[in-house]
Amino acid sequence: MALATTLPGPSNYIALSKAYRDDPLNSYGQAWRTHGDLIRFKAIPGADLYFVVHPDAVAHVLTSHGQIYRKAKSVHEPLALLLGNGILISEGESWLRQRRLMNPAFHRQSVMNLASVMTRFAQARSQRWERYSTGTVIDVAEEMQQLTLEIVGEALFSTGLDAHIDTFSVAFRRAAEFINDRINNPFKTPMWLPTKAHRQFLHNRDRLQHIALELIQARRHQGTHQENIRLDLLAMLMAAQDADTGARMSDAELLDEVMTLLIAGHETVSVTLSWTFHLLGNHPEVRHQLQDEIETVLKRHPPSAEDYTRLPYTRMVIEEALRLYPPVWAFSRETLRDDEIQGYSIPSETFVLVGTYFTHRHPEFWSAPEEFNPERFTEAETAKRHKFAYHPFGGGPRICIGNQFALMEATLILSTLVQRFDLEPASTQPVEIDPTFTLRPKGGLPMRLIHRSP
Ligand code: HEM
Repeated sequence: MALATTLPGPSNYIALSKAYRDDPLNSYGQAWRTHGDLIRFKAIPGADLYFVVHPDAVAHVLTSHGQIYRKAKSVHEPLALLLGNGILISEGESWLRQRRLMNPAFHRQSVMNLASVMTRFAQARSQRWERYSTGTVIDVAEEMQQLTLEIVGEALFSTGLDAHIDTFSVAFRRAAEFINDRINNPFKTPMWLPTKAHRQFLHNRDRLQHIALELIQARRHQGTHQENIRLDLLAMLMAAQDADTGARMSDAELLDEVMTLLIAGHETVSVTLSWTFHLLGNHPEVRHQLQDEIETVLKRHPPSAEDYTRLPYTRMVIEEALRLYPPVWAFSRETLRDDEIQGYSIPSETFVLVGTYFTHRHPEFWSAPEEFNPERFTEAETAKRHKFAYHPFGGGPRICIGNQFALMEATLILSTLVQRFDLEPASTQPVEIDPTFTLRPKGGLPMRLIHRSP
């Protein structure tokens, strides 16, 4: 059968379009409503971008035909400036080795063992909030960023990062903005040019790397076999030996993995919790149901690993927040050879963007898709749905390694804080979305902290 070669799509070049750079969610959204679930965009003259929204097509790219896709170079080269050849970026044999090495640290039982770390930091944050008088406005986005960074540091590397939290958060935010701009800029200036933006980025990267290297070197100094050190991810990475050569990972290799996990392991969970609090602030009926569950199950005790499975509604609230505001709102691949999706041919070396945010709001798969309704995530409702209508953690072999970690952490943090506080909107202005890097609330998330009576 002869394949159709032209897919519907707009006629302008999106990589040159200010609208797509400044407001990608609305721009892609409009194109999706106009042209449908599989769109061919012109990126720059001579290069196309295929935009994929239908769950069948998402499943095709991530799973059934995943072997003919790799991560897109034009996105991963800028990202590699920060993450080197860490697990998020690497491909082929090197990726497989890294993934196999790290998998045990993310198995369900390993994650369950980290619950006490998660709860301890959530409680410390709660105690800090106790000191604010009721009605104080706090930036929930900032609070969640710090908390999730503390947790990932302690859980995977046995260091709460202590005095480094602020430096890390600020330097990461600035470095992420630079990388986002570089990804979206079709005319990339070489990094050796000493422009102001390059110098600032390198300065921020140095600050981040300095913190990660200090962590590695402190561990080398302590040795990995002391009794007081948990067999954490860093210990596992340091102990691993190459099957052929017997070599262990160098500090430079460890640095890439530590940077990757510190970054991938905190930003996304922090954004998830921010949006969850935002949604709860605007939906008191859901908040009350959530409080009821938490009070009945926890009876004012801190949550434990076992409680995680006893808080189904809490988990449903988080899953629904991840549907409406998937932190990774789109992700990219490129074809290794010619492919065909839903009857359309896609040439080799083509950039493919999976539009998770739009799949999650697709009216064919979600009724009243713009509404916040955790009931969509009962087991029965989930079983009825197309598996790829919901994919906040991606899918296929490159699925998020930290998905169990993230869901456990978000559940434990939410149930700890909701026991003590209500968070209400600090303003009547709508909260805007900032889709740079991850999907964040624009300019932070100011909310009013209300103490709940005991
Ligand atoms: C709600 C929180 C999270 C979300 C929404 C999320 C989302 C994602 C997505 C969509 C991918 C796949 C990207 C692609 O295929 O191109 C991914 C990969 C990854 N995530 Fe997460 N993530 C979250 C939390 C975490 C946590 C807590 C960790 C670690 C502690 C983590 C570590 C990673 C790593 C290492 C990869 C790369 C895996 C590989 O390529 O083998 N993530 N994440």
